[in-house]
Amino acid sequence: MRRLTTATFVISTLLSTTAIAAPPTGAWVFDSSPEYPDFTRVKVSDDAGKLSGTITSRWYGDLPMKDLRADGDVLKFKIYNGNPKITPTDITIAADGEAVRMTGKLWYQDFDITAHKGTAAELKALDFPSYPLPPHRVVPQKNLAAKPPMGWNSWNKFATAIDDKTVREIADAMVASGLRDAGYIYVNIDDGWQGKRDQNGVLQPNEKFPDMKALADYVHSKGLKIGIYSSQGPKTCGGFEGSYGHVEQDARIFAAWGMDYLKYDLCSGEAFYHTKETVYATYQQMGEALAATGRDIVFSLCQYGRFDVGSWGRDVGGHLWRTTSDIEDTYARMSWIGFDANGVPNHTGPNGWNDPDMLEVGNGGMSHDEYKTHMSLWALMAAPLLLGNDVRTMTPETIELLTNREVIAIDQDVAGVQGLPVKKNGTTEIWTKKLSDGSTAVGLFNRADTPVTVNGNWAEIGLSDAVKVRDVWAHKDAKASAAYSYTLPAHGAVLLTVSR
Ligand code: GLA
Repeated sequence: MRRLTTATFVISTLLSTTAIAAPPTGAWVFDSSPEYPDFTRVKVSDDAGKLSGTITSRWYGDLPMKDLRADGDVLKFKIYNGNPKITPTDITIAADGEAVRMTGKLWYQDFDITAHKGTAAELKALDFPSYPLPPHRVVPQKNLAAKPPMGWNSWNKFATAIDDKTVREIADAMVASGLRDAGYIYVNIDDGWQGKRDQNGVLQPNEKFPDMKALADYVHSKGLKIGIYSSQGPKTCGGFEGSYGHVEQDARIFAAWGMDYLKYDLCSGEAFYHTKETVYATYQQMGEALAATGRDIVFSLCQYGRFDVGSWGRDVGGHLWRTTSDIEDTYARMSWIGFDANGVPNHTGPNGWNDPDMLEVGNGGMSHDEYKTHMSLWALMAAPLLLGNDVRTMTPETIELLTNREVIAIDQDVAGVQGLPVKKNGTTEIWTKKLSDGSTAVGLFNRADTPVTVNGNWAEIGLSDAVKVRDVWAHKDAKASAAYSYTLPAHGAVLLTVSR
C-alpha cells in the first residue's frame, strides 16, 4: 500500500467502491416466508441503468417494485398491494454473497428473509398464472332481494372458528328463538370453511365441514336458507383458498351444495384488480357464473364501497354491496358507519341495497341504548339485517331488540327508501324515512355521552300534518301536537312512525 502513487490509490479506491456499490440484480427464490403474504421469488433487472423488479406472493401474484432505487449496494423500493388505505414503507434487498436478504413490511406483516439464486426451472415453477377477465357486460339481475336481506352471518362472532356443528345449532336457534319467524331467513357461513382443491380443481371444504350438501339440506329442512363466502383473489381475507382462476367451477359447486347466497369479498384480489373496470369485471364474472348455474343465489358484493359500487352493483347481478370497511362492536365504529359513511342513498332500493355491514347487537361491546341506536339506524337506512351474534345464547333484551316487528317493518318497507338526516344540531340528529303507506319513520339520536332533550315542531322537519305518533320501541301511541319533546339517554335513540 505504501508504494502506491496517489493516482493509483484514487483509481483503485474508486474501482473498489464502484464494485461494492453495485446493487444486486438477478432472480432468487425465498428460503422461507411468513404465511402472509407468502413470498416465493424476487427478480431485479438493470436495463442500461434503469432498475425494475417484482416480488411474487401467493396472495398477490407479481407485485411490481415501485420507487425502486439503489442506495449504495442496497436496493430500496415500495410495494402497493392495491389497498388505498395502506401507506407503503421502504423494503430493502441487500446482497449476501450469491444470496440476498429482504427486510421490511407489507401491510401489518414484518419480514426479514433470505433468498438463494434460483435455477431457471425453480423460478419457472413459481410463475403466477394470470387469467383473462370477461369483456364488459351487464348481468340481468334476479328478483331475489325485493326487501333488504335478513339472516345471520358467522363472521362478527366466530371469525374463522366456525364449523358444521355450530352452523346447525345456529339454524336450530334461529327457529327456537323466533328469529326465523321474524324474517331472519339466511344462515350465512363467512370465511374459514375452505379446504384445498382436489385434482380437478374442485374446492373442498376443510375438516370442520365434512359434508356441505348435508349441511345445506339440514338448514333448508328448518325453513331457512344458507349462504357461503369466497373471494376473487387467490386468498380470502382470512388466508383461505379464493376463487382466483376457478370462478365458474366455484359457482357450480356452491349451487350443487344448495347455496342460496354468496358473499364475494375482494380481499387479496385488490392487488390484481385495482381499477373500477377490473373490479367490475371480476364481479360480473361471478355474477354470470352464478346465473349460469340456474340456481337462485343472492349476490352480495364486498369491496368496502370502492369505485362508487352502488352505481354499478346491480349491473353485475348484485343485490347488496358493502359501503365501508368492517364494522366493530364499538359505538365509535358503528356510529361512524351508520351516521356518516353508508353510501349514496339513491343507490338503495328493491334488489339493490347499500350494506353498512352486519349487526353487532348482542355481542357485548355496546350498551343497550347503543344497540338500540344501531338497530334504529339500520332500519331507517333500509340496511340488510344480518345478525352477527351467537343466537344460541341471547338475553331477553337482545331478543327484544332483534325481533321488534315494528322496527323490522320499517327496515323491510316495500318502497325501499334509505332514510336520511333532516336535522343536525351539535350531537343530536333527526332522521326520516318515507314509508309506503304514506307515514314517515323518524329517528331521534343523541350522539353525546350525556342525556339530552330534543324538542321542536314537527313542521320544521316536514311533518306539519302529523296527527298520530307511535313509539315503536315502546309500542306506544301518542296523539301528536304541533311540538315534540323527547329525552334521549347517552348514545340513545327514539324511533317513531308519524302519520297523518
Ligand atoms: C373482510 C370482510 C368481513 C369478513 C372478513 C373475512 O374483512 O369485510 O366482513 O368477511 O373479510 O375474512
